[in-house]
Amino acid sequence: MNWDEEPPQDTGRLVGATAEGEELAAEAALRPKDLTEFVGQPKVREQLDLVLRAARARGGTADHVLLSGAPGLGKTTLSLIIAAEMGAPIRITSGPAIQHAGDLAAILSSLTEGEVLFLDEIHRMSRPAEEMLYMAMEDFRVDVIVGKGPGATAIPLELPPFTLVGATTRAGLLPPPLRDRFGFTGHMEFYAPAELERVIQRSARLLEVETTDGGAAEIAGRSRGTPRIANRLLRRVRDYAQVKGDGVVTREAASRALAVFEVDGRGLDRLDRSVLEALLKLFGGGPVGLSTLAVAVGEERETVEEVAEPFLVREGLLARTPRGRVATPAAWEHLGLRPPQGTAAVGGPPEGLFES
Ligand SMILES: Nc1ncnc2c1ncn2[C@@H]1O[C@H](COP(=O)(O)OP(=O)(O)O)[C@@H](O)[C@H]1O
Ligand SMILES: [Mg+2]
Repeated sequence: MNWDEEPPQDTGRLVGATAEGEELAAEAALRPKDLTEFVGQPKVREQLDLVLRAARARGGTADHVLLSGAPGLGKTTLSLIIAAEMGAPIRITSGPAIQHAGDLAAILSSLTEGEVLFLDEIHRMSRPAEEMLYMAMEDFRVDVIVGKGPGATAIPLELPPFTLVGATTRAGLLPPPLRDRFGFTGHMEFYAPAELERVIQRSARLLEVETTDGGAAEIAGRSRGTPRIANRLLRRVRDYAQVKGDGVVTREAASRALAVFEVDGRGLDRLDRSVLEALLKLFGGGPVGLSTLAVAVGEERETVEEVAEPFLVREGLLARTPRGRVATPAAWEHLGLRPPQGTAAVGGPPEGLFES
């Protein structure tokens, strides 16, 4: 993997939000098949339900749909549900897979009427392909370029009506002309613990693993608001319960299992905790510069900044300030430490305190 082009990925971490390889098959087995089975996201679910019902009533094709949200929140699942609810076939591809406009033309020209085209990571598509997509979305037409150089000609090609479902983790990176061509945008939010408990209980039924309410709650609290992580932690706790217990996922089994796998009560793993610990123990809660902090934990700057920090910031444990990283009171509390006297005890250091 080329770190210059790709942001550091969090695959391989138990609490990582992206999935690859074998895990994809495990996930496929747990995907809800229709909107009523899809847990949480009440707004997106209701809005999408209306869009799809209306399209069905018209006997037409649904408007193009953009799904934005963090990895693991259910974008791919929803795209499959859209196709299922419309009784339409689905074609799955992704922005990075479409390097040339020709790649996209080949896909578009082979779509059948009403088909759903799922374009994952749509913000990573090449510019020429993007421009072709504008026309395809709006007019159901592409210009296929035949020949090269001065003799090249553009042959317009009519497309059957189709529904584009785009997914992105970075809605802000989409050029406005592309964003504007979607009839509906669903913003996926992180899930509340009670919603994750329902995801876990549903998955447990499918995996045929007996799970108590306490067990589901314990896993939900460590899942970072993300169904993908909840399902992964459930599988690890199931393993533990099978080997060390009677196979039942109880609160105690969950908490022991996740202690073994070093996922703490709030869903922090070793990397997160080491960043936080260094910030508290070595730098008194900060402010400290990113590079200094990274050296202290023996990680790359990018890993600390892009893999560990976003969740710590979201949890309100760490703040990024112009003078550096600062721990919040919640961070001291979470690690069971007392802030030293006279420093960032409450709400971070007052302005100017650290200026020389
Ligand atoms: N609302 C939900 N209800 C139940 N399971 C969900 C839900 N959202 C996601 N999942 C599960 O989480 C996993 C990841 O979902 P996925 O759609 O692949 O996320 P994304 O495409 O946003 O990264 C899948 O196994 C899916 O079954
Ligand atoms: Mg996906």
